[in-house]
Amino acid sequence: MRKILLTGGMGYIGSHAAVSLIEKGYKVVIFDNLSNSKLETLDAIKKITGVRPEFVKGDINSSSNLDEVFKNHRIEIVIHFAGLKAVGESMEKPLEYFQTNLTGTINLLNLMKVHDIKRIVFSSSATVYGKPKYLPLDEIHTTCPENPYGESKLYAENIIKRYAETDPEFSSVILRYFNPVGAHGSGLIGENPIDTPNNLMPYVVKVVYGEFEHLNIFGNDYPTFDGTGVRDYIHIQDLVEGHELALDLCFKEKGFHVFNLGTGKGSSVMDVVKTCEKISKKKVDLVFSSRRFGDVAETYATALKAEKLLHWKATRDLNDMCESALNYGKNLYE
Ligand code: NAD
Ligand code: WQD
Repeated sequence: MRKILLTGGMGYIGSHAAVSLIEKGYKVVIFDNLSNSKLETLDAIKKITGVRPEFVKGDINSSSNLDEVFKNHRIEIVIHFAGLKAVGESMEKPLEYFQTNLTGTINLLNLMKVHDIKRIVFSSSATVYGKPKYLPLDEIHTTCPENPYGESKLYAENIIKRYAETDPEFSSVILRYFNPVGAHGSGLIGENPIDTPNNLMPYVVKVVYGEFEHLNIFGNDYPTFDGTGVRDYIHIQDLVEGHELALDLCFKEKGFHVFNLGTGKGSSVMDVVKTCEKISKKKVDLVFSSRRFGDVAETYATALKAEKLLHWKATRDLNDMCESALNYGKNLYE
């Protein structure tokens, strides 16, 4: 049985990956400092899969914490999810973002080298592209992130690339996620940030269930079909399937690979709101406010490279995404 380490595996994306990898027969070890996740997630994973993954509480910046994990487990491959991810916060606390996302990645690579582990899949972000020069965004679009979060992801990608060049036996896959949303079909795990959500979907879900009174729409004067921002939302289960195929590629091929994970389809803020209203049969009160600093009007991916080389394609639509997010919200808030 292959042993895999998921750094940040208690978080939103990592916990969904843990479930599907356990179901695929991997032996999962989770390493997380619980700064944006809760220990109860382990119970939820056990409930869904029947298996409680090994959990080590530790910080990605601590060499001794990571060394202990690698000494105690024969890890064959790592998915590196651990990191800080709020764009706005990264502008207020750039050093924390570079420390966790960049120094943390260097620390991880150093310890992987010491323990002779030669495969990594890295969570990157569409944020590395910055303002789109053309759409859909492909992997050869210029990278020009506009905030410390995006910079930390791009620098980490480059460090992995440079490291991969030094070792012909090393395999690395960078996955640039667009806008992951939705939840596992069980409704037992989903996106539940510890602080007020920055992202649209978890915020809309809280409005639907009366946790918040209204949704602030950040701008309705964009040059898009309905004036609100357009994004490439991708169902978390599709995203996780992309990771499974990225792992397969790492076991088959050496070197450095970069893939977008998106649907190729843009949906507006109003599309998300209307879909959630239709499914929940509840009204989402809206307040139209000014544009959020740093937001672009429209962005969406082409994931043709992943389709060709990973044999991956997103299959779930916006309805599936909203339905699963609301189903998870029901368990949380009702
Ligand atoms: P999340 O915050 O839910 O999960 C990240 C996990 O990492 C959390 O459980 C947190 O406790 C842990 N963590 C944070 N700092 C740590 C540290 N110093 N040491 C150990 N663990 C630490 O976020 P997520 O949405 O699951 O994102 C996972 C990864 O995907 C992140 O790297 C993020 O940047 C990237 N990403 C996320 C999105 C998104 O919209 N969710 C989009 C693109 C990329
Ligand atoms: C989507 C749309 C907002 C909240 C961010 C990161 C990106 C990635 C995903 C990590 C935009 C509008 C939002 C609200 C709103 N994360 N909105 N009211 O900004 O595309 O991407 O999360 O890597 O890097 O930048 O996602 O969900 O925040 O916003 O009107 O309360 O919803 O203006 O048009 P975004 P989002």
